[in-house]
Amino acid sequence: MNTNISTEPKKDEANELLKLFNEKKFGELLNKAEGLRLIYPNSLLIFNILGASYFEVGDYKKSLVFFNNLIRNKPNYFEAYYNIGNVYTKIGKLDLALTYYIKSTNLKKDFFEAFNNIGNIYKRKNQKSSAIVNYIKSLKINPDFKRSYHNLAVVLQDYIFNEPIPNIEKYLIRILESETIVRPIAIANSIISYLQLNEDFKKFFYMKDDKYKKIPINKKIKFLSNYKLFTKLLQLCPIPNIKIEEKLREIRKEILLKVSIIENRNDNFELINAISTQCYLNEYIYEISEEEISALKNLEEEIFKKIIINNHSANLEILCLSCFKSLNDLDWIKNIKEIKVLNQVYKYHYQEKLEEEEISKTIKSIAMIKDNISIKVKSQYEENPYPRWNNIGLSFAPKSLKNVIKDINLNIAENSISELSKPEILIAGCGTGQHAITSASKYLNCNITAIDLSKRSLSYAIRKAKHFKYNNIKFLEGDILDLKRLNKKFNIIECVGVLHHMDDPYNGWKCLKDCLRDDGLMYIGLYSELARQNIKLIRNEIKKMDIYPDKKNIINFRNKIIKSNEKKYHDLKNSTDFYSLSALRDLIFHFQEHTFTLDKIEQILKKLNMKFIGFEDTYVLEKFKSFKKSENQIYNLEDWKRFENKNPRIFAGMYQFWCQKI
Ligand SMILES: C[S@@+](CC[C@H](N)C(=O)[O-])C[C@H]1O[C@@H](n2cnc3c(N)ncnc32)[C@H](O)[C@@H]1O
Repeated sequence: MNTNISTEPKKDEANELLKLFNEKKFGELLNKAEGLRLIYPNSLLIFNILGASYFEVGDYKKSLVFFNNLIRNKPNYFEAYYNIGNVYTKIGKLDLALTYYIKSTNLKKDFFEAFNNIGNIYKRKNQKSSAIVNYIKSLKINPDFKRSYHNLAVVLQDYIFNEPIPNIEKYLIRILESETIVRPIAIANSIISYLQLNEDFKKFFYMKDDKYKKIPINKKIKFLSNYKLFTKLLQLCPIPNIKIEEKLREIRKEILLKVSIIENRNDNFELINAISTQCYLNEYIYEISEEEISALKNLEEEIFKKIIINNHSANLEILCLSCFKSLNDLDWIKNIKEIKVLNQVYKYHYQEKLEEEEISKTIKSIAMIKDNISIKVKSQYEENPYPRWNNIGLSFAPKSLKNVIKDINLNIAENSISELSKPEILIAGCGTGQHAITSASKYLNCNITAIDLSKRSLSYAIRKAKHFKYNNIKFLEGDILDLKRLNKKFNIIECVGVLHHMDDPYNGWKCLKDCLRDDGLMYIGLYSELARQNIKLIRNEIKKMDIYPDKKNIINFRNKIIKSNEKKYHDLKNSTDFYSLSALRDLIFHFQEHTFTLDKIEQILKKLNMKFIGFEDTYVLEKFKSFKKSENQIYNLEDWKRFENKNPRIFAGMYQFWCQKI
């Protein structure tokens, strides 16, 4: 008997297996590895490779057999437990997955990938606090582990903190500092709820007037500047909270009235800079009183005197002025060299505007816009491009179309589109580019054409696409009604928040369908009539009062709402769109708006000879599944109708669904 036989394959045999694995040649690999198993029946490497390969080809039963063999032969092999956790996750046995991930972390205390996956399981089980705790554990071990930041950000999007989670703050700041993890506005409410767990912070914003007035302005500024998470958020998105807004307005006023006594310190500058950015981002939606108007006039004179006449610097004063208005409107300030010292003010008030003006000259047009409603809608978005944004939630890594379809779980039979390697995509009504850039990050090797009526929105979009280094998006000015002029058919067409602003949405939808390939997929976002009942009341009120939607009127109407306790305004005040000018105009002052029901959508799909193949919004899908207690009905619109009737606000973020030609 040969007692020298090794339990493991020779080096070249092992290398060959690993090479095939890396090249994803799983068929060939499985043949080879099964053959070698006869020679090396107890090889850990072969158990591992077979477990992983069967996992890749979707044979989870066999995958489990080999990983279990591995554990039997080497009980402290932590990766095998982790891999078994992955198999159980895949087949939806979440409790078993959790048990195995936990075992793997017991064996390897710094197994950050496993903590991340434990977080994912809790996320799927809707136990959000536990999910967050585990993402934080993962990040404490590896503060550069991007997946945990992305996953944490997803959970935060509908999470309100009721109790503090230790050590979380620095990771929240890191999320906000990253330009590509999440849109800050999507997690703003969560972050505010976290900040309000701090008693001192909360007390400050709820403080009674007489007490608040006694605190010197420098002390107030110093107090707020200590909350780095708050000052970071101020500089990234409009703060969607009335109480905080009230105090920010008061502080802004006090800074203006007492600018001469504000101490010339860095943290003072930082906070005023943050307030200035906040006001720029909300497009100066805060009301300005008569007292402030007159103080602003004096401030401008003071700055002029200091700089032009006396050759002194006036940075603090300029910063203060920028809390109230766009400096770009003031010709004499524009040419002052000092502005460049105020980096952020310079960037927002001048640099980006100049860049967009230059970009605007280069935008090509499909055709003259002729439709009357399109002309009106265009003028709205020329005045107020929407949405305005800075950071964005990009996909972690681009995926093949096949995998994207699998992730969304669309109800399509195997068809040719799944195998497509270079999808041609149309984003119709791309606005300021957020949607087009997100799609560019999602689909591997895609080519995107993005059209919109508004040149200013397109300029914004092109500036952002350049910033994020996406050069596979072609932006064009044009009307959906003129799409046929492109003479092109697309594999995927996405159109969110656009058709309901057209004169005849059916007509627009038909134009989209006409340039979709026969096996193509279409993603549509439409307003829900049920979810917008309150908005309808408010729109009627605006119509009755015949309010023209210019800045002054929007701000006046908004102030009336802020002061009112009427129930019909309640949802509106809770909407993040209430907190910036262009968003509020889009929400309640739009020139043209249709709303839909699922019945209506069904009828249109029938008329277009198309079929519904699934909703996209994971939050809505989760809620639906817990309502139906079954995965199977997600494609049944009758069930969705019942679900919406029971949860009339569920589609507040629009019906967002996929459809396909029949
Ligand atoms: C509410 S914004 C949505 C932008 C973008 N889809 C998003 O989700 O961020 C609506 C956009 O649709 C554009 N739009 C409206 N009607 C259009 C039409 N007939 N053709 C092309 N774009 C249109 C507007 O100019 C505006 O930028």
